[in-house]
Amino acid sequence: MAMPQTNHAMDQSSPVTQDIAVSAHNVSKNYGPVEALKDLTLEFPRGQLTSLLGPSGCGKTTLLKIIAGLLEPTAGEVQVDGKAVTGPGPDRAFVFQDFALLPWASVIRNVAFGLELRGIAKTEREDIAEKYIKDVGLSGFEKSFPHELSGGMRQRVGLARALSVDADVLLMDEPFSAVDEQTRRKFQEDLLALVANENKTFIFVTHSIEEAVYVSDQIAILLPRPSRVSDIIRPTGLREKDSHSIRRDPEYLDIVDEIWDSLRTYVE
Ligand SMILES: Nc1ncnc2c1ncn2[C@@H]1O[C@H](COP(=O)(O)OP(=O)(O)OP(=O)(O)O)[C@@H](O)[C@H]1O
Ligand SMILES: [Mg+2]
Repeated sequence: MAMPQTNHAMDQSSPVTQDIAVSAHNVSKNYGPVEALKDLTLEFPRGQLTSLLGPSGCGKTTLLKIIAGLLEPTAGEVQVDGKAVTGPGPDRAFVFQDFALLPWASVIRNVAFGLELRGIAKTEREDIAEKYIKDVGLSGFEKSFPHELSGGMRQRVGLARALSVDADVLLMDEPFSAVDEQTRRKFQEDLLALVANENKTFIFVTHSIEEAVYVSDQIAILLPRPSRVSDIIRPTGLREKDSHSIRRDPEYLDIVDEIWDSLRTYVE
């Protein structure tokens, strides 16, 4: 799939001076006879948000799980800060596609759960959890249970839990998929602010081309299974813009169109 090289935003040259937080080197993953990923190589610059965009079943969740250390690649290697990943670690936190909240535990316990696993004392972890519950706009719901919350609120709990462990790398698997359009836009604005204010590395999976262009420093377009990176797009000009004017920006509209042109081949 040849992409036009005329737009500066489509520059595919490697960012020479960039500090790389996470890198995948020739990663392959087979599930029995199913080849999910094949020889995938990709670098994730520190302090930036990289989106993974690609057809359903192309291996996005698989790649996040390998980076998280929850799955072992069949071949290749993932490195975090130059060290090979051999399992989960406190440097990485995961916001799951399906929330993965503990149904029997209150909001505050769910948010504090990552800290509980790390052996942090109850009062300290609840103080930290409280701060992030407030940050994601859930104050007053500390004692509620997941079944008493809306889908959007549950996603906020998942986000607060990932933020509370203060990991350097945040792995987000379609974190906004279950919310209505207005809430999703609010989440996207919040995410842009988070990326700007925290020096964390975000690896973000989405099915939405518009969402990827709105929030990303770098977008990796993945091919259908067995997946590799087909293109890397950097909407650099948009990152200077005010969050309210991005969707009207000609660069935004051009990149959305160009990505759709390259992906439409894979939609039946
Ligand atoms: N535990 C598993 N056992 C066997 N096959 C699996 C397993 N997990 C994923 N797969 C297969 O690997 C491929 C990639 O799956 P994955 O969940 O990573 O895709 P995805 O890009 O996240 O899809 P979606 O966009 O629908 O979430 C799919 O063909 C899927 O059927
Ligand atoms: Mg998935």
